[in-house]
Amino acid sequence: MSSEESLLEVRDLRVVFTRGGRRINAVNGLSYRLRAGEMLAIIGESGSGKTVGARTLMGLLPPSAEVSGSARFDGTELLGLSERDIRRWRGSEIAMVFQDPARSLNPTMRIGVQITEALREHSDLDRKAARARAVELLRLVHLPAPERRFHEYPHQLSGGMRQRVVIAIALAGDPRLLVADEATTALDVTTQAQIMELLVELQERLGMAIILISHDLGLAASYAQRVVVMYAGRAVEYAPADRLFAGVRMPYTRALLGAIPLLDRPPHGRLPVISGQPPDPAALPDGCPFRPRCDLATDECGEAPPLLEHEPEHWWACWHDAAVPAVPDVASAVNGEEGVRR
Ligand SMILES: Nc1ncnc2c1ncn2[C@@H]1O[C@H](COP(=O)(O)OP(=O)(O)OP(=O)(O)O)[C@@H](O)[C@H]1O
Ligand code: SF4
Ligand SMILES: [Mg+2]
Repeated sequence: MSSEESLLEVRDLRVVFTRGGRRINAVNGLSYRLRAGEMLAIIGESGSGKTVGARTLMGLLPPSAEVSGSARFDGTELLGLSERDIRRWRGSEIAMVFQDPARSLNPTMRIGVQITEALREHSDLDRKAARARAVELLRLVHLPAPERRFHEYPHQLSGGMRQRVVIAIALAGDPRLLVADEATTALDVTTQAQIMELLVELQERLGMAIILISHDLGLAASYAQRVVVMYAGRAVEYAPADRLFAGVRMPYTRALLGAIPLLDRPPHGRLPVISGQPPDPAALPDGCPFRPRCDLATDECGEAPPLLEHEPEHWWACWHDAAVPAVPDVASAVNGEEGVRR
């Protein structure tokens, strides 16, 4: 992948944990690239390595994790940074928002204090200036009555409001990349859409890039400019969202999008269940990791296919792409009549 214009370039990232004598290949040769100001969705089944891959960028893995490969952010190799540099980096270049806002906030501290502390960690603002900036951030994330809410505790806010506060805290360091790991999954559908609208607004207003980690194909199709589909710790298809949803090429992606009748789809575009199990990351099969579940597999698939740019900007990892017909109109199928919103 050329590094031209990219803010983040992840290449052949591998993360191995050792637990009970077993080596767990959580991330297994992940490559993708993110442009400044772009929203990239990372989609995949549970256990495919989405969170571990993102936590690696933040230096948030247990020390026992073995990490190799490369993750360059605006020219700086993240994987080589010292603990001290990573701490300074975290929040000021890349910030992360997790699924459960309740766990990201301290229940015993007023929200204003929590944002003010985050601001003071990333800047030399005095207490008064930090407080004013905190209220400004609460306004930026559209928390109603920010001056009053400033003095409230997390339990006094709804789940959606708490997630807005978590996002405000993530913005305290003025990051260039926000990683939202299932940040809307715990919310009801209406609140989820409101938080997604907020992320898009922040992306546009602040010129901030966003990595949206999700099980939800509808979210990827509706909001992201580019999509990475992960399977068994690696990227198996990677393309601009409109191109991907107009014609998926890798059998796993196709299974996600087109293998089951639309009426049987789970609500809100969550990933359908594909027959068979994803491979155990402690015992990956030889060759293509999707082989045990793939009805197009041949002897050739005993060797793992590389992720290649088969068409301009459209990458996939499969020996038999030509055999996979495009799935027509997936975006409108996932999103209803309006199709892709971008
Ligand atoms: N600290 C750890 N020690 C050992 N194994 C781990 C650790 N963290 C994650 N794993 C394993 O790594 C693999 C990838 O996990 P990860 O959390 O990245 O998946 P995910 O794609 O984010 O899944 P989900 O959609 O459920 O959040 C899983 O098999 C998981 O059990
Ligand atoms: S390489 Fe073979 S097993 Fe893997 S997805 Fe393609 S056809 Fe299926
Ligand atoms: Mg996860």
